[in-house]
Amino acid sequence: MTTPIMTEAELHAAVQRELPGVRADLERLVRIPGIAFEGFDHTQVERSAEAVAQLLRDCGLEVDIVRAGGQPAVIGRKAAPAGAPTVMLYAHHDVQPVGDRTLWESDPFEPVEREGRLYGRGAADDKAGIMAHIAALRAFGDRLPVGVVLFIEGEEEYGSDSLERLLAEHRDTLESDVIVIADSTNWDVGVPALTTSLRGIVNCFVEVRTLEHAVHSGMFGGPVPDALTTLVRLLATLHDDAGNVAVQGLTGREGATVDYPEDRFRAEASLVEGVGLLGTGKITDRLWTKPALAVLGIDAPATAEAPNALVPAAKAKVSVRLAPGDDPKKAYAALRDHLHRYAPWGAQVQVTLEHDGAPCVIEASGPMFDAARSAFRTAWEGTDPVDIGVGGSIPFIATFQEMFPEAAILVTGVEDPHARAHGPNESLHLGEFARVCLAEALLLAKVAEVGSRRDP
Ligand code: BES
Ligand code: MN
Repeated sequence: MTTPIMTEAELHAAVQRELPGVRADLERLVRIPGIAFEGFDHTQVERSAEAVAQLLRDCGLEVDIVRAGGQPAVIGRKAAPAGAPTVMLYAHHDVQPVGDRTLWESDPFEPVEREGRLYGRGAADDKAGIMAHIAALRAFGDRLPVGVVLFIEGEEEYGSDSLERLLAEHRDTLESDVIVIADSTNWDVGVPALTTSLRGIVNCFVEVRTLEHAVHSGMFGGPVPDALTTLVRLLATLHDDAGNVAVQGLTGREGATVDYPEDRFRAEASLVEGVGLLGTGKITDRLWTKPALAVLGIDAPATAEAPNALVPAAKAKVSVRLAPGDDPKKAYAALRDHLHRYAPWGAQVQVTLEHDGAPCVIEASGPMFDAARSAFRTAWEGTDPVDIGVGGSIPFIATFQEMFPEAAILVTGVEDPHARAHGPNESLHLGEFARVCLAEALLLAKVAEVGSRRDP
């Protein structure tokens, strides 16, 4: 006789029971500064992988720490009960660097609660994603109604360079009917979301040179273009006067139906008074289905040390977010052409690609998506989830779509608009986190029901 699937009431009680332990383990993970970027101490990423592996072993999973030339990922699996579907649960254990520590109100790697939020680097992105998966497993205990394969990546924030190889090497282990990617955001505190499109990304460096070496700015200034003025002028051609991206050859479209009121958007973005918005059209289109372009950094003399000399060379990092449907290789070629074509005053321009990633669109219909929406509605006490796009990128979703074309990909997440992922004072809303954990447990129960109906 097979054990019956746990009821909503049982799962509710079980998740409540598990939350304190889940919170404590989340805090332990936040204390490990596992940053995959070059130049950081990668033994911390190893520690982080080991800590995740132990958490998964304690859930009764068979666990391996795997790598394919990059940082370690953790794969944990438990076979499906006879006839039940298998679900892949994805999250990442690496985190972003913390940036300027003086901007943090508390130590980024010492989690603290303030006003219902847990502060710390990775408290939301994406260690809470890992713990939401573990919360669901713990709630079921030995009554897990589906097979699971947890895939906890170790270099997502650094571009997932070795992920394609990892996926190819472990394809059979990872194959599943449903994929839950807990690395996105909810629509608001109190309003869940299912993410149905993400933008792609092209990051590149553009270096401008006008002189062989620096020269006295009084002796040569006037006829001689300095590289920094030249670079800034070139960067200024990347938008039109209205703030739309001016690079020819990038695609974009309209179509989002969600209403994102401008005053809410301005507040969530923390725009200071008087600053206008870039571009035209609906805010959600500008965020989700049109390209965006930003200058992320410039290498040039620091102002405090800048001598009266003409700068011979200067370099900027440019980041383009690509609309769903666009192609990163084509987009990079378009950007490179633009930067060469608009080079002011005959300056030498060199463009190099840092990394790119594909956008994606998810056709979010069918029984597994219905199961997810119903789980969300229950966990948020009757509030329906909103279908959203996001402006951020999870490039390997496109790879999953190619590798596992039959699988339903559910992009969920623990963040809310106030989470400040990637910035100082990142935080997790603990009340919402409890709902995310419950939603995931309910989702697995529903997936089991749908799966067993499909496959008698
Ligand atoms: N969790 C984010 C992706 C995301 C951002 C989802 C905003 C929902 C809203 C993820 O960890 C991330 O930051 N991805 C990088 C990808 C890049 C390194 C290829 C990003 O978007 O910058
Ligand atoms: Mn993330």
